[in-house]
Amino acid sequence: MMRARRTVIATRVAALVAVCSVVVALTGCTSRAQEAASGSTRGFPANAIIGVALPDKTSENFAIAGQLFVEGLTKAGFSPDVQYAPATNTVAEQQNEIEAMITRGAKVIIIGAKDGSQLSTQVADAKRAGAMVISYDRLILNTRNVDYYVAYDNERVGELQGQALLAGMKAKYPDKTSYNIELFAGSPDDNNSSVFFQGAMKVLQPKINDGTLKVVSGQTAFKQVTTQGWLAQNAQSRMDTLLAGFYSGTELDGVLAPNDTLARAILQSVKTAGKPYPIVTGQDSEAASVRLIMQGIQYSTINKDTRKLVAEAIKMVSELQRGSRVDVNDTTSYNNGAKVVPTFLLTPQLVTRQNAAQSYATDPTLEPLTRG
Ligand code: GAL
Repeated sequence: MMRARRTVIATRVAALVAVCSVVVALTGCTSRAQEAASGSTRGFPANAIIGVALPDKTSENFAIAGQLFVEGLTKAGFSPDVQYAPATNTVAEQQNEIEAMITRGAKVIIIGAKDGSQLSTQVADAKRAGAMVISYDRLILNTRNVDYYVAYDNERVGELQGQALLAGMKAKYPDKTSYNIELFAGSPDDNNSSVFFQGAMKVLQPKINDGTLKVVSGQTAFKQVTTQGWLAQNAQSRMDTLLAGFYSGTELDGVLAPNDTLARAILQSVKTAGKPYPIVTGQDSEAASVRLIMQGIQYSTINKDTRKLVAEAIKMVSELQRGSRVDVNDTTSYNNGAKVVPTFLLTPQLVTRQNAAQSYATDPTLEPLTRG
């Protein structure tokens, strides 16, 4: 009798354990499902190492970003590990830096990719080590191991550049009904370069088709107009060649320049050739270019306030550290070839001489340049 009773109890306990294990499993799964759905993950220590891998300093924005990440992450209680990949170096430098951050135990790695198509191994290693990956400014491609993307709307940047080129030429040459232009794009290994160019050509291509714009050199394909490494000397050299080859007896009215570094190189080439300045666009609100805009030499730039972009990336880190929902405002647009990456997108602003003072009113470095 006792043996039978023990058997019944044992059977009931086993059943109870089985039911509980199913509930725990479901609850465990549910909590993991809830985390996945909510975009939150389990938190990590408040003083965790946070890796920041930036490409190079060929443009001011990345130089500024590095300092802002050190200050902002430290202020938030984290241990920043900010590294750059030298402009002349290969992608390997950045790959090695990211691996070192993983080895040091970084809980989040923020990456401004030197080449977003060559980091799949590194972000897979990060994921295996339990680190989250935030793609900063430039989207990392062809891998599911990117957790978030934070950037300005870079297609909108291109559209604004195209619109500025047209508006600037119309204002400078009121009696012209057609304009001679040349096109420049950024480095082919930077995913943003094609995004900027596509945005600009959405505006310019219809005007090329209807004859309002003429690209005198005929160089209109992305591959024909890229600037390796975003290097000023490469843009200046190409502009020299274009001027010598196509503009000995022809006026150049405008140039689509994808950022300020290249805009200044193009303007230098025109100056050296002894020709009048065309309308030249830009991007990044670099101090030297803001000065040229106030002098009427460069026509426009784009304000992508690095302080806001860095702050948004650090906000994501803090949300991940708390294990709370990560704030994103675009969950459909950014398919990196392997997945749609949840994104926080900021809005870029076109700046010309007319609105520079208002645009940079809160920027202690740029505001003084807009006076008088
Ligand atoms: C891009 C970035 C631009 C520009 C360029 C050169 O990816 O979005 O703001 O600075 O790199 O570094």
